[in-house]
This record gives sequence, structure tokens and C-alpha cells, in this order.
Amino acid sequence: MFEHLAPYAGDPIFRIGDMFRQDQRQNKVDLTVGLYYDGKGQIPILDSIHQAELKRAQHPETRQYLPMEGLPSYRSAVQKLLFGTECAALNEGRIVTMQSVGGTGALRIGGELLHLASPNSEIWISNPGWDNHHAIFEGAGLKTHTYPYYDSVNGVLLFDEMKQTFQTIPAGSIVLLHPCCHNPTGADLSSAQWEEIADIIVERKLIPFLDIAYQGFSNGLDEDAFAIRLLASRNIPMLVANSFSKNFSFYAERCGALSVVCQNTLEADRVLGQIKLLVRRIYSNPPLHGARMISDVLNDPELFAMWDREVNEMRTRIRNIRQKAYDILKAQAPHFDSSFIIRQNGMFSYTGLSLPQIEKLRADYGVYFIDSGRISVPGLNEDNVTYFAESVSKVV
Ligand code: LMR
Repeated sequence: MFEHLAPYAGDPIFRIGDMFRQDQRQNKVDLTVGLYYDGKGQIPILDSIHQAELKRAQHPETRQYLPMEGLPSYRSAVQKLLFGTECAALNEGRIVTMQSVGGTGALRIGGELLHLASPNSEIWISNPGWDNHHAIFEGAGLKTHTYPYYDSVNGVLLFDEMKQTFQTIPAGSIVLLHPCCHNPTGADLSSAQWEEIADIIVERKLIPFLDIAYQGFSNGLDEDAFAIRLLASRNIPMLVANSFSKNFSFYAERCGALSVVCQNTLEADRVLGQIKLLVRRIYSNPPLHGARMISDVLNDPELFAMWDREVNEMRTRIRNIRQKAYDILKAQAPHFDSSFIIRQNGMFSYTGLSLPQIEKLRADYGVYFIDSGRISVPGLNEDNVTYFAESVSKVV
């Protein structure tokens, strides 16, 4: 019955992560999947989460089903974290937030909702972009296109080209945007550039779909929500997918959310109803544990402050290791412009290395990153950064 199915080529990101795991060399370096590693190369368990888990463990609770849209205290905390407490749409009850299965689940449910509302919906995704965006939205029935975003040869944002595209695509088009820590390039828009984009979106009646998977890793929890709050203040329909995998180091718990900003509360009720229907048809209702722990942290001022400090530490470590990698690369390979690594933000940097160079790094040195040339910077630490820079200097 299934013989005719095509073999799976493998995911462009996880496939290289698997290659890394199979490599037996002791000095191999993992810069593949977007995972935050601490300075010792470990994926941390955050103290804030650990405290929340210890507290809950003292009073074990039953595991009744959650509502289709998720845990209420989690959903409301997510809204405040993304939109801030001053947001008119939030205070007027016009934002619908559902607990999703990771950021990917939020993107997919958002795509399904857009397709349901308008079956001819088309979405524009940055080029380069996160490899999975096209697959997710095509899976939801949307036609996907790209808009120019970054020139990897010259290491610059293509802001004028991006604006030109937004000025010419049909009204009602959906534009997928990264509020901070652009994946894969680590190159973000400035506040002034976001203002320009917001003006075009309003004028051209585009629908922004914001994907925020690294809140806090660029400049801070509030600072990184700038684009979300700016667009929400413009009173336009918009969607936001967020993920807690990285900033809570909670990958396998699959905690995310989809928020939809509606025109009025009647529309918000309908959107919530259709989201429930979509969820009921796919997985019925979301899991409890991860959302409960995150809700406990976000809703407790002390645990929240602890988490904020932990996010600051992660961000600072990434910045410092970027600087160190740059300093060593500059000394080892003065002819190679490695300034991208200190100009770019958050988890990722886009090296601009060619596929033959990337393959040589894997084969000869055990330094692994994905074919696009993206490195996941937190894979670097004091123990491997010199080896990484020396290896790169030998292939450039
Ligand atoms: C990444 O881009 O490496 C992460 O977001 C993990 C993933 O799901 O692709």
C-alpha cells in the first residue's frame, strides 16, 4: 500500500544534526540545530523552571484534559509578554491566544486559519529564510513566495528590495516577518526600518505574520517585542507565533502560542472558535506540563525576575563568544571578512561560506553547520572556539 511513497530526503537542519551525532571524533563542533548550549557545552535546565517544578512536585495534581485552546494562565501570560500591558487591542479583548505545540504548531495552525478565512491566501517569506516556513505554509494550503532580505555575498540587508516587494504584492498578501534574531541570518531591522515596514503594511493592507522564537536573545524581553507592539498599535489584523523552546531551554516540551489580533471582540470569538475546531481535528488539546511550568514562571514576579536574569546571561554569553570568535578569526585569517559574526544578532550567523567549504569543514575537521552556511553560535564555547576559527581559516 505504501510502496509508491517517495523516500524522505531528510530535514535540511536536523539531517546535519544527525550527521554530527554519528561523527566519532572527540573534537567535533556542533553548530547545526538552533539549540542554546552554555559555556560548558550543555543544554541548561533553567533555575526558574527547576524552582517551578520543585514547587509543583510538592502538591501533585491530576491530569485532566486542557481546553482545546490551552491553559488559560499560560495564554494570558503569553499575551502580556508579547504585547505588553499597554496594548489597546489586548485591553479591549481583541487578541486571541492559543497554546500551541511549539512555534511550528503555532505557524501551522495560523496557516490553516488563514487558509480557512481566505482559501487563495498567499504568503511571502524572507529569502533566505527558515527552511521549514515554506513546508509549513504549503502544508496548510497557502501558496508561498519569497521577498529579498539579505545578500550573503556582501553581508548586507536588502532593505530597499524588501520594501519594493511589499509595495508591489497584492493587497491582502501575508508577509512572514522575524521580530528579532532573524533565522537564518542573524540580521535584524532597526526600529526606524520597522516603522517604515509598518507604514507600508498599513498602506498596502498586507497581513503581517510574525514569528518570534528567540525573544530576549537580541536586546531583552521587552526590546525584542518592539515590532510586535508597533504593528499591534496600528490596528491591523495580524498573527504572532511564539516559541519558548530556546528562551526557556524547554525544547522537548513543545511550548509555543499563536496570537491573532482581531478587529473587534465578535471577530475574536469567531477566530477562537475556528482555532478550537482546527485543534480538535488534529490533536484535540495540548499537553499540560510544559505550559504549566512556564505559566508558573511568567505569573510569579520572583520566578519571572529569575528567568529574565537567565535570559540575560544566555544573551551575554552569545555576544561574548561572537566577539571571541571574531577576534581569533581576524588573527588567523586576516583576508577573510568575519565581521558578520559581531554584526549579527541572537542564535545565528550567516557565514557566506560555500557548500564545498562547508563540506570540507565537516569532513576534515568535524565542524558541522547546515548547507546554507548558517551557524548556531551557542555551539561555540571557550574550549572549541579556537579550533573552530582555525578550521575555518584553513578553508577560506
Ligand atoms: C533551527 O532553526 O535550527 C531551530 O529552529 C530548530 C528547528 O526546528 O529547525
